[in-house]
Amino acid sequence: MGGPDKVFPLKPVKFMARPKGRAVDAQALAEVRKLLGTQPRRRDLLIEHLHKVQDRYGHLSAAHLAALAAEMGMAQAEVYEVASFYHHFDIVKEGEDAPAALTVRVCDSLSCAMAGADQLLARLPRLLGKDVRVIPAPCVGRCEAAPVAIVHQRPVERATTATVEAAVKAGKTRCDAA
Ligand code: FES
Repeated sequence: MGGPDKVFPLKPVKFMARPKGRAVDAQALAEVRKLLGTQPRRRDLLIEHLHKVQDRYGHLSAAHLAALAAEMGMAQAEVYEVASFYHHFDIVKEGEDAPAALTVRVCDSLSCAMAGADQLLARLPRLLGKDVRVIPAPCVGRCEAAPVAIVHQRPVERATTATVEAAVKAGKTRCDAA
């Protein structure tokens, strides 16, 4: 008879030897290890490492996220949460198709919406073809130059269909590209 005063022994706290969740795919793990090379696996480098995977594969697959979590000794949920917080990471869930190699994000928040973002979103997909994905994105902090499109990483300010198309065709997809 244990009454309310009975003292239960505290269970020892278990530390997980490996993150819970999706089983880690050996090939994805090998790919992540190759990408990270000798760089430290510290958790404050998570975003940097997510960028490496995104840049190399054009998206973040469930397999790569699980592999990165395992490699960094972090919970898969934590890695997923960080990746899903930033709009520039493309998470591809289990069973989903990977997106086109190049993504153009068109800001459709207030200033850009007022400056014609909807027309860009309507016209660009046909203009750029199936190898380029055109998607709406929240404010990218360049409201004074609305409407703004981001071609992979490169912002196109006061964007028109012509200037976005020109940036795509010229391969100007990096912030540092001339
Ligand atoms: S509303 Fe488009 S950049 Fe801010």
